[in-house]
Amino acid sequence: MGYTVLELLGEGRYGICYLVSEGDRQYILKQLKREMLKKIGHKVSYEKEILRSIQHDSIPRYIKKLEFDDFFGYVLEFKEGKTFEEIIYKDNYTFKREEIYDIGMQIINILKYLHSKGIVHRDIRVPNTLFNNGNVYLVDFGLARWANNEKYKLDVDFSYFGDFLLHLHYTSFEGEGAKAKPWYEELQLTENEVTLLKRLLGIEERYKSIEEIEVDFLSI
Ligand SMILES: Nc1ncnc2c1ncn2[C@@H]1O[C@H](COP(=O)(O)OP(=O)(O)O)[C@@H](O)[C@H]1O
Ligand SMILES: [Mg+2]
Repeated sequence: MGYTVLELLGEGRYGICYLVSEGDRQYILKQLKREMLKKIGHKVSYEKEILRSIQHDSIPRYIKKLEFDDFFGYVLEFKEGKTFEEIIYKDNYTFKREEIYDIGMQIINILKYLHSKGIVHRDIRVPNTLFNNGNVYLVDFGLARWANNEKYKLDVDFSYFGDFLLHLHYTSFEGEGAKAKPWYEELQLTENEVTLLKRLLGIEERYKSIEEIEVDFLSI
């Protein structure tokens, strides 16, 4: 097929993700598992169809499909960077306030783009976000769907975003985990920050749109 597998990056329920090279260029190869193929049959893979419809610098481009014998997969642009999971749990990096707001704003911009296209990502988490030279990238569209008002609502991305922000805030938390207090007592957050996070998480009145979130985020 012309691609050399360099590294296995992850194996999820539906697919296996490899770093591959072709000549001097690197790509991501996502292989759909056989069980998944049986399940979806002739139907589209949402990840492939959704990525094909997206053009955004912070999201890997869909390049092409690879199909032979019983192999089915697709090649994606490789985005360089470390996952936030590595930065937080391996490097034990402490994010400063300005960095959290800069990163948060980049995610808001990605979500504005996706939601304006009617796409809900449904998996914005620390292993699915990359950071490189101050730039944030969103990967893993394995659970992404075209939004509707039933099963696939845009606002699930708000809860994931709130949880993601909490992960960044917790990098500066120095207390012990034992006497577990709720995050809004444990972290040093302003009243406005607590309200924003509670609304993102759905503990208080949910936000109706990503634009509404942006207004509050910018005012903090
Ligand atoms: N386009 C990409 N560029 C760089 N790294 C990627 C890319 N896509 C995935 N990865 C890396 O591979 C890992 C696994 O890929 P992912 O799409 O999340 O699949 P899964 O979670 O199903 O294993 C990610 O956590 C990320 O570290
Ligand atoms: Mg993933």
